[in-house]
Amino acid sequence: MKNLIILTGAGMSVESGLSTFRGSGGMWGKYPVEQVATIEGYYDNPELVINFYNDLRKQLLTVNPNHGHKVIAELEKYFNVTVITQNVDNLHERGGSSNVIHLHGELTKVTSSKDPNNPRYIETLATDDYDVKMGDNSADGSQKRPFIVWFGEAVPMIDEAIEWVRKADIFVVIGTSLNVYPAAGLLNYLPPRVPIYVIDPNELPIKGSDYHFIQNGASKGMDELMKILLDKN
Ligand code: OAD
Repeated sequence: MKNLIILTGAGMSVESGLSTFRGSGGMWGKYPVEQVATIEGYYDNPELVINFYNDLRKQLLTVNPNHGHKVIAELEKYFNVTVITQNVDNLHERGGSSNVIHLHGELTKVTSSKDPNNPRYIETLATDDYDVKMGDNSADGSQKRPFIVWFGEAVPMIDEAIEWVRKADIFVVIGTSLNVYPAAGLLNYLPPRVPIYVIDPNELPIKGSDYHFIQNGASKGMDELMKILLDKN
């Protein structure tokens, strides 16, 4: 089977009822990014940051995967699919995808403040335990923090993502403005002449003969892409 690699961003989850980050109505218009998505913001006011992610985590319980997530999962019948997502929600997994690489962490998990990438301290919260409090400590005695990659932090999953991108036969980009690195730089690792399908209702500042634009939302866009891929492969 061909390797189909799908890079997703916040736009993937819009039709499930979650916000994007940039643009009108985006999260960074409502919450200062320096406060809630940087490592300095966390050191300045850990309680505010922990509560912000508690709220986002609890919001997950009120939303569901959309049709686009489900079509991505269905593509596993025809392709060896790897989803590389910048999203911290769990909607790809709940939509049925089996290989999901989370570049920016996962809302459902917490970890140690001292040693955040040590697998020993990364734990998945039970849904009735979604409220992390100040004083809840990891096994190393440090405050439990959200397992989120903040600006200013390393992106440990990028190496595994690059390995998959290097092996891509087909590449798909859905719902990301490609503003944030290293995720946006993944396109540079594609082998020559790999077709790139871009699903986004808005235009993105990228072009080239390998790009095929599907200017639509994630659900309708994925239906269109499914038809194209099954016709061609
Ligand atoms: P952005 O908010 O930058 O971009 C969202 C993209 O989704 C835009 O290109 C929109 O046009 C598109 N979009 C809107 N509605 C859509 C729909 N119904 N279907 C498909 N696409 C739609 O979000 P990201 O690129 O994901 O990082 O942002 C990247 C990172 O920046 C995030 O992971 C987050 C943020 O800061 C961290 O928090 C570390």
